[in-house]
Amino acid sequence: TTNKPLQGKKLLLTAGPTREAIDPVRYISNHSSGKMGFALAQAAAEMGADVTLISGPVNLATPNNVQRINVESAQQMLDSVMDNVEGIDIFIGCAAVADYRFADAANEKIKKSADKMQLNLVKNPDILASVAALANKPFTVGFAAETSNVEGYAKGKLEHKKLDMIAANDVSVKGLGFNADNNALQVFWPNGSQALPVADKLVLARQLLALINQQMPN
Ligand code: PMT
Repeated sequence: TTNKPLQGKKLLLTAGPTREAIDPVRYISNHSSGKMGFALAQAAAEMGADVTLISGPVNLATPNNVQRINVESAQQMLDSVMDNVEGIDIFIGCAAVADYRFADAANEKIKKSADKMQLNLVKNPDILASVAALANKPFTVGFAAETSNVEGYAKGKLEHKKLDMIAANDVSVKGLGFNADNNALQVFWPNGSQALPVADKLVLARQLLALINQQMPN
């Protein structure tokens, strides 16, 4: 139907930051608020989709008719995505996943001692690329947060991670991107693109979902 274009579709998405523990009281993370991903979850539910939202730690209420799962680390987010991906029609990776975690997170609070200290990081698994590599993969949509060469890097991620679509945002623009209410997206798929100019994240979420619905096979 026209007002519920995603009726019957199952959508899984990630939102928010991840936290990578240094010790029991400290972590590294980023400025993702979850607003973009929660707007997508809300818009998709309003468009009739059956929505599961896997979220890192954020201060947002769960949208109506959305099933929410809370996680902290990238590894937990990956595990939760893999536990829930079966039978999914659309996957959207909107979370700002930490690229690295601590090689050996301490079990006890690290004590202050030397003037300098080093922490060793190891690469986290790539959740989006793992979904795109599944034999029975859903229509897989990534985000790209860039501070320069937005189109070039976004198209690179579309290709390398074997995605069906990528929504790029220039996170160096003041008032857009991380933790803002507004955003602007440049959306790319293998044989097309569409600019979605500055708007409230909920407006952009509806526009991006309409594009996904247009580009995905029925
Ligand atoms: O949460 P908000 O405050 O509303 O801000 C929204 C946002 C800026 C976080 C969002 O619009 C956005 O750009 N999300 C993706 C952020 C990001 O991590 O981008 P990236 O270019 O580093 O990663 C590319 C893609 O790979 C993303 O879809 C990301 O979810 C995914 N990824 C990255 C690393 C990793 N280990 N696993 C992943 O799945």
